[in-house]
Amino acid sequence: MDLSRRTAPPSSVAPRAVTDADIPAEAPPAKRLEAMLRWAVQAPSVLNTQPWRFRIDGDAVSVFVDQDRVLATVDPEGREAAVSCGAALFTLRLAARHYGETIDVELAGPGDEPGLVGTLRLTGHAPPTASEETLFRAVKARHTNRAPYADLAVPVGLLARLRGAAEAEGARLHILTGDSDKAALADLVGRAIRAQSDYESLEEIGRWARGAGDDRPDGVADVPWGGWGRMGHLHADPRFAVGEARTLVAGAPALLVVATDADDRAAWARAGAALQHVLVLGAAHGLAASYFNQPIEVDELRPEVSAVAGGGYAQVVFRLGTPVEAPGTPRRPVGEVLVYEAG
Ligand SMILES: Cc1cc2nc3c(=O)[nH]c(=O)nc-3n(C[C@H](O)[C@H](O)[C@H](O)COP(=O)(O)O)c2cc1C
Repeated sequence: MDLSRRTAPPSSVAPRAVTDADIPAEAPPAKRLEAMLRWAVQAPSVLNTQPWRFRIDGDAVSVFVDQDRVLATVDPEGREAAVSCGAALFTLRLAARHYGETIDVELAGPGDEPGLVGTLRLTGHAPPTASEETLFRAVKARHTNRAPYADLAVPVGLLARLRGAAEAEGARLHILTGDSDKAALADLVGRAIRAQSDYESLEEIGRWARGAGDDRPDGVADVPWGGWGRMGHLHADPRFAVGEARTLVAGAPALLVVATDADDRAAWARAGAALQHVLVLGAAHGLAASYFNQPIEVDELRPEVSAVAGGGYAQVVFRLGTPVEAPGTPRRPVGEVLVYEAG
């Protein structure tokens, strides 16, 4: 399929400006699906490559990996691209349910069209449940936050719900809480950053770095002032990036690994759905996320990630925590404002 010839004209609505009011009420299926795609593209993607293409056919929309946006050096198999597309397909599901559509979703198998990740079909109408609405509302609230998080543990009950969210998508969520496991993963992240300090990797990552004044609608902001990201070691000695990443990984309130039992495109799509389900559920509870996926991208290190995490094929490494949005104002200690009744 030549997707490039079929590209729709650019929408006049910037994706981040999408609102509920954007969907036409009694529009034909193709128009409703098109409006829902504005939500699907809010999904996270590796280096914000947005490696997806959508094809609407009647009352169905298919999601494809856009091969032109696959990172040939860092992600030669297109695994992270497919994970990103899986996250977009999950987000599309949430949008469809929000708009009262019942749906059927089929993931692509080995004999399907090249690049196909999955197809969502509209099947009827039913109002969304309260929990579907909660997840949908969190789509816009979710965004990657690479800053240190507040020193607050993620409640055990919420961690169990996050694990259930990943399992509902056919994946596993490993939750690393022990200091030695976190340190082992931090070590793998450090080794991966060093391994990716070769010319080809840096050059490819650098192509997706958006510097000041670069208003491309994709890529990741290149922030030379620090704050760990994929861009850190483009500018500085990798030792600094390694040190910063290790501190964030080892000190993460919750360090998580999405894993799958298989390692084909359907499994990658399930991993993406699981990732986005966990992220929006976390966002609905005020949690932010940031990723450390480099050891997944280095072939020799990926099995070690799987072993440390607890089995399966590791697909995405990330941390969750409570973001600190502002430095805050000081408070007097309770001892200064408390008196006990004499008696
Ligand atoms: C499969 C996958 C891998 C990612 N790996 C990393 C990573 O290693 N480091 C990082 O800082 N961000 C990583 N990201 C986050 C993306 O950079 C981020 O989703 C993208 O820039 C869009 O920003 P947003 O999440 O705020 O919408 C990853 C995202 C996905 C889906």
